[in-house]
Amino acid sequence: MEMSREKVAVVTGANKGLGYEIVKALCRKNYGVVYLTARNEEKGREAFKKLQELGLKPKFHQLDIQYGKSIHTFVKYIEKKHGGVDVLINNAGVLFLKDAQQPKVYQTDQTLIVNFFSLVDFCETISPLMRNGGCIVNVSSSSGHLSRIPSQRLRERLKDENLSLDELKVLMQGILARRQTFERRRRRVGNLHTWFRRWGQRLHLYYTEDWLHVEGNVLPEQGADVVVQVALSDSRGQYVWHNGTPVPWCGDDPRIWIDGKV
Ligand SMILES: NC(=O)c1ccc[n+]([C@@H]2O[C@H](COP(=O)([O-])OP(=O)(O)OC[C@H]3O[C@@H](n4cnc5c(N)ncnc54)[C@H](OP(=O)(O)O)[C@@H]3O)[C@@H](O)[C@H]2O)c1
Repeated sequence: MEMSREKVAVVTGANKGLGYEIVKALCRKNYGVVYLTARNEEKGREAFKKLQELGLKPKFHQLDIQYGKSIHTFVKYIEKKHGGVDVLINNAGVLFLKDAQQPKVYQTDQTLIVNFFSLVDFCETISPLMRNGGCIVNVSSSSGHLSRIPSQRLRERLKDENLSLDELKVLMQGILARRQTFERRRRRVGNLHTWFRRWGQRLHLYYTEDWLHVEGNVLPEQGADVVVQVALSDSRGQYVWHNGTPVPWCGDDPRIWIDGKV
């Protein structure tokens, strides 16, 4: 297989919503080779076709970040075909809204497994391919801001600059193991996105916030513009709000001082 020298961008969970819009925005900017990836091949190909009909030329590859085999196949393919990645946008994730019908235990497990453990597995596998000057953007939620974690002890632990990824994994495994107790006691688990935020900070990742249906105040295409702007900028290690403003990782709740919520 011939290796291309063009810039390469990979977007996870891109068959719909924000991920789809991110691929569209990158293609419109003529950003080299843009991979639309999706766990469901049929849905991914449909999205790919829709973009082709708009005159855009993304590439498609199946990728389910929850399955090692899928991760391995994708990473090997990219390595062989391109040798590296310039922009990785970790958009794939699960989000249970307040009215979700699934049992809380299931919601907690899925959120931890997909949004933390699967994401970490994927990042650890693909990170050797990240090129110098490359950028990883993690899409997350406003609920992941450290100010949203009720426990001061936990907040302190998570904002500790010396917290390693291995320690973070142990912390998260402990939470997964204890989740039934948490559920029984109806304690708030805090927001789970936060842990990979902290881990991300260590790897100099970015985060963006708060898309469409929760508050209904940001359209996917608006969110996509911010993500792409962040991905193509020179800054690193920032936590970026949905309006593009970098915010402190551990400070006052930006929903109040940016969004004006009371
Ligand atoms: N929408 C909001 O208000 C909001 C708020 C805060 C954070 N976020 C986060 O922002 C991101 C995008 O949001 P969105 O509203 O565009 O979400 P969405 O419409 O639900 O799209 C999520 C995408 O992730 C994919 N996905 C889920 N699990 C996956 C896995 N194991 N491997 C690969 N892909 C997987 C989904 O695939 P399928 O189509 O096959 O399910 C879908 O393509 C998500 O990470 C979400 O958690 C969203």
